[in-house]
Amino acid sequence: MLLHVPQVLSPEALARCRGIVESADWADGKLTAGTQSEQVKHNRQLPEGSEASIAARAIVVDALAHSAMFFSGALPKKTFPPLFNRYDGSANRFGNHVDNAVRTSTLTGAWVRTDVSCTLFLTEPHEYDGGELVVEDTFGSQRIKLAAGDTVLYPSSSVHRVEPVTRGSRIACFFWVESMVRSDEQRRLLYDMDQSIMALRAVQGESAEVVRLTGCYHNLLRMWADT
Ligand code: NI
Repeated sequence: MLLHVPQVLSPEALARCRGIVESADWADGKLTAGTQSEQVKHNRQLPEGSEASIAARAIVVDALAHSAMFFSGALPKKTFPPLFNRYDGSANRFGNHVDNAVRTSTLTGAWVRTDVSCTLFLTEPHEYDGGELVVEDTFGSQRIKLAAGDTVLYPSSSVHRVEPVTRGSRIACFFWVESMVRSDEQRRLLYDMDQSIMALRAVQGESAEVVRLTGCYHNLLRMWADT
């Protein structure tokens, strides 16, 4: 499932985040690349433990904790500490690759299995040319370029790339989620059900049908979740 979660960052949180990362010292993105992706990765990243990373990450982590739609779509068990990347100048693209299946953060030492890949855009589409995130999906290629503050979630098993940025800078936050529900199909079913239940509840209130459907949701989650 490819899911667009709008306005994960409020305008105020976005402005604070940008203020921190724009003036920070950026390093070569190859530092965190695997053997295959190193060949095609040409971007910059904020060092994981830098002051700017820590401050900006705290803003993102807080915003994620308040996003019901992010929770519903990802059903996070563990979230990799968010990282920040930048595409411009000669470090302006990231060719086709699949994200490493498991990752360990130098900050936490914990292993995270990457079920869901997430990109939170920090610059607006009109601020740069190119830079689309292209995800090869079972429905074909999806080209993604979202408003600043918005996030896209996609299965980490997908081949994806970032197209060359030919004007301006594309700055984003990216991270991975190990989900309580490992299967993308099961997560999708739960997400669709959750959204429908909320819509029905808004119309019907706590009708007997809504209560029963909510029970089905939780019983499916109980069957599939690994916490
Ligand atoms: Ni990737």
